[in-house]
Amino acid sequence: MLRSSLEKEILKALLVSRDWVSGEELAKRLSLSRVAIWKEMEKLKSWGFPVISSRKGYKLFELPDVFFREYLEAYFSRFSFPVSVFCEDQVDSTNEWAKREALQGAPSWSLFIAESQTRGKGRKGRSWFSLPGKSLTFSLLIRPNLSLWSGFTSLPLVCGLAVSLALEEEGLEPEIKWPNDVLIDGKKVAGILVEGDFEAEVLRYVVIGIGLNVNLLREDFPEDLRLTATSLLEVSGKRHHRLFLLENLLNKLSKCLEGWKGEANLASLYPELKKRLATLGKRVKIAVSDKVLEGLAEDIDLDGSLWINSEGERKKISWGELVTS
Ligand code: BTN
Repeated sequence: MLRSSLEKEILKALLVSRDWVSGEELAKRLSLSRVAIWKEMEKLKSWGFPVISSRKGYKLFELPDVFFREYLEAYFSRFSFPVSVFCEDQVDSTNEWAKREALQGAPSWSLFIAESQTRGKGRKGRSWFSLPGKSLTFSLLIRPNLSLWSGFTSLPLVCGLAVSLALEEEGLEPEIKWPNDVLIDGKKVAGILVEGDFEAEVLRYVVIGIGLNVNLLREDFPEDLRLTATSLLEVSGKRHHRLFLLENLLNKLSKCLEGWKGEANLASLYPELKKRLATLGKRVKIAVSDKVLEGLAEDIDLDGSLWINSEGERKKISWGELVTS
């Protein structure tokens, strides 16, 4: 859409300022005439960007909730840390795409985002349902300095916390279901799929895949999900801006990952995490490999494992799938 780097520069200036930018200043900065700037603004308008003009110059009236690479690059150039943007209309799965690019050397903090996935992946070989324009589906590639498998197991909880914190800023009250689902009113609103590639005990990269049901209506969900899944629109009664959500999610991920620091220890995040963990105090059934363990979920460990009390015996479960809670 944005064909030249000039259009990208102009959009970036408007995004960074979020206020009026004078035509004169832009013309000077880009070594163009004011008429040329005006023509570029008309182009941006014809592509759907709500540019308004006045004596003070130009301004974006609101930010379109669309995803394409140059727009996201311009948008995230305001971040204090660099994000490499990979964006397509449709891919198989953003997690698979991120893994392919990781092997080709994509840097840490690469964002892979697509409006639609033909093979969106859930945990345990399940598929992930999403709708273009209404869902948010992305993966973040990071390269933490980690040489212990045990540090990796706490990562899904760290991501669950980041998602919850971002949703709270939307005025919602999410809960985390161990190890990494995010629920509102007991229904799943976000799924997280963390995949890592270890070589000789050294983690080469981690892909954090997040699927968020944003502006889906009840009838948008396939029938088999209607009882167990929900969306932000459904719980708040209003539409949510996916790009603002994405920005907030990346900010919260950055903060939580900083707190985690790749260690097998959730210490600095522990109180915030525990407050939001819906699983504690409930009777749970957890599928671990081919067994199902049953008991009362009593606590979480600093390494992210769940402590359950099974007929008087305390058991520590590092990895598993909650079948009921
Ligand atoms: C789950 O709850 O089972 C995890 C769902 C994870 C879905 C996201 S959508 C973006 C990323 N790409 C995928 O193929 N899966 C994850």
